[in-house]
Amino acid sequence: MGVTRREFLKYVGATFLGATLSRGPWPRWALAQSRIAAFEPDVEIALVAEPATVAILPGKPTQVWRYRAEVLSGSADAVRPLPNTYLGPILHWPKGTKVRVRFTNHIPEETIVHWHGLHVPPEADGHPRYVIGEGETYVYEFQVMDRAGTYWYHPHPHGRTGPQVNMGLAGLIYVTDEEESARGLPGGEYDLPLVLQDRTFDDENQVIYTTSMAGYLGDTILVNGEPNATFSVKATRYRLRVLNGSSSRIYKLAWGDGTPLTVIGTDGGLLETPVTRAYVTLSPGERVELLVDFQRWDVGSTVTLESLAFSGGGPTNVPLPNGAAFRVATFQIDTLPPTPTPTPTPTPTPDARAYMPFLAHRSSATAPSTVEAPRVAATRTFYLYVQAGQWTINGRTFEMTATAPDEEVLLGAREVWEFVNTPPFGTGGPGGGGGMGAMGLPHPMHIHGLQFRVISRQAPANATQRANWETVKDGYVDEGWKDTVLVMPGERVQVEVVFQDYTGLYLYHCHNLEHEDMGMMRNYRVVAP
Ligand code: C2O
Ligand code: CU
Ligand code: CU
Repeated sequence: MGVTRREFLKYVGATFLGATLSRGPWPRWALAQSRIAAFEPDVEIALVAEPATVAILPGKPTQVWRYRAEVLSGSADAVRPLPNTYLGPILHWPKGTKVRVRFTNHIPEETIVHWHGLHVPPEADGHPRYVIGEGETYVYEFQVMDRAGTYWYHPHPHGRTGPQVNMGLAGLIYVTDEEESARGLPGGEYDLPLVLQDRTFDDENQVIYTTSMAGYLGDTILVNGEPNATFSVKATRYRLRVLNGSSSRIYKLAWGDGTPLTVIGTDGGLLETPVTRAYVTLSPGERVELLVDFQRWDVGSTVTLESLAFSGGGPTNVPLPNGAAFRVATFQIDTLPPTPTPTPTPTPTPDARAYMPFLAHRSSATAPSTVEAPRVAATRTFYLYVQAGQWTINGRTFEMTATAPDEEVLLGAREVWEFVNTPPFGTGGPGGGGGMGAMGLPHPMHIHGLQFRVISRQAPANATQRANWETVKDGYVDEGWKDTVLVMPGERVQVEVVFQDYTGLYLYHCHNLEHEDMGMMRNYRVVAP
């Protein structure tokens, strides 16, 4: 691995580890100060959340909240602004970078920033207990230890994440490393982000936010903040980094002409080898990276990226139901300029194994290998269901700093976490419908602080749920590292997690943002053995 644990310790000292982490929130007076004595950042960034106006639809501009960032010291390439959008700039951090972010809140309510997918200390993870008020600054210090890939940042105040993301607060993080550069993937203008979101606008072009037990479903699809997205592309290979940045909407992505998708990466970075899918199912919070050669289509023609119809997404009596078919984006194919960028074929690197020490060489999907990994210390089951009118995890809703006894894990332990999208007393029992009919809703389950592997899935037993599941399951990409996994109604999904490097409080929750805001979120605590 590029940064061994020992090197990491050398960089940051032992203060991240052990009992010193459980001291709780830092006092406000300390927020503008460095958190870690002797932390010397490679890059220091000022990040703000602030109101702005952006032209999204023809006519009146839209009021948004937006992240803006500036490099205070270090590589100027650490912040790549995106033009004409409410999306925040792309934060570009090579693996190993020691980052200091000074985040200042200029929106008129409390907020905090979370780096979705990154393995950072609890104090740098944007837990809701660290919210800051308008005018206040929070300092993050951490070293980027993650594999190259597409991560993202968004607000994480309790109860207000959905509305704040809806107002525009979200941005991408690109982590790069040597394993990735060795693959010779398309770069520069051939490395294209596609952030998928949905919004409903009123007659004045302002965002309307209304929620239900199903969450928020906008009737206008935005890609990188733009409706009817059209990209002019060259007849060559592209890397498409797709983020589902929507509250509740699941995308069933497919090329308009039926060409299979080539998937090269998931939440936690590049796959060992590319896989193909007729379609890809992408639930809120998840990322997928596609490799596409537009030479496949004629110059002057267009190809579309579609979201196909599926069932089991929830209520159908809304303007654009979760599961409706719609166009995501159109690509117009242009001739390649006379001096083409070299785009060598990707090859798996010889040291890919080093990045997947636990499971890369397991013999079957249900039998994780024990190579370099501790034995499974525990299996925990989390039932996802409605109780007393609220979405819950095992019947519990969010408590700011509390954990139940079964939410404490040991540092260094390997566990199997099992998410079951039914009540523990069976589908259709009390609370099973929760006003959603007896069929339930999809829950994209996200764990903070780590990347996991999906080790098994069990189809729903109920016939209707099973039929719904059949309409999305072939689009799952469970081969890679994941931080968010879709659990369809009636489905049971097992993931393997390992708790490394940091003790303290982290979150796990449904990434349907309205479910999360409603309390379908809990803490887990990593404790030293
Ligand atoms: Cu992207 Cu806790 O979330
Ligand atoms: Cu996260
Ligand atoms: Cu949910």
